[in-house]
Amino acid sequence: MFLALLVIVILCFSLVILFGAPYLPTLKKQKTIALDLLALEPGQTLIEVGSGDGRVLKAAAERGIYAVGYELNPILVLASWLVTLKHRDKVKIIWGNYWSKKWPDADGVYAFLHTDYMKKLDKKMRETRKKTKLASVTFKIPGKKNIKEKDGVFLYQY
Ligand SMILES: C[S@@+](CC[C@H](N)C(=O)[O-])C[C@H]1O[C@@H](n2cnc3c(N)ncnc32)[C@H](O)[C@@H]1O
Repeated sequence: MFLALLVIVILCFSLVILFGAPYLPTLKKQKTIALDLLALEPGQTLIEVGSGDGRVLKAAAERGIYAVGYELNPILVLASWLVTLKHRDKVKIIWGNYWSKKWPDADGVYAFLHTDYMKKLDKKMRETRKKTKLASVTFKIPGKKNIKEKDGVFLYQY
């Protein structure tokens, strides 16, 4: 039983790398910087691509922001659902692949991915209908000039 559970957990965390960045949570300092750079107003909407354990969704909701997270790993979907329990009216977590989903209109996007996916993210961002800002932790969009940068967090305007 224990072994079966362990195999399931390992599969959930490892299979994700076929579709995107592996799980590595944003540090508290960078999370705050990214949300500050995005500077969304209460009532505005943030999308987080790969919402992990829900810490960013929770911090956004505490600022009065509507936060939509896409997450592929079902264990992290459950964990983030629990972490954001107090903010059910503000936080929506979607179990699925963010590349294949049609994103809702949003005022900001939060990403902590990997170099390999930044070009694809740029293409997806260009498909957004609304004027949107992107805060990317650690990784830059190749060939696109950021409008702000602080401590390894890059802000882009689309
Ligand atoms: C580097 S972690 C960042 C987690 C969180 N955004 C944070 O900053 O704390 C990337 C997350 O994206 C998820 N992920 C990777 N590829 C994905 C995909 N194609 N669709 C949905 N989630 C994905 C992983 O499971 C992981 O939780």
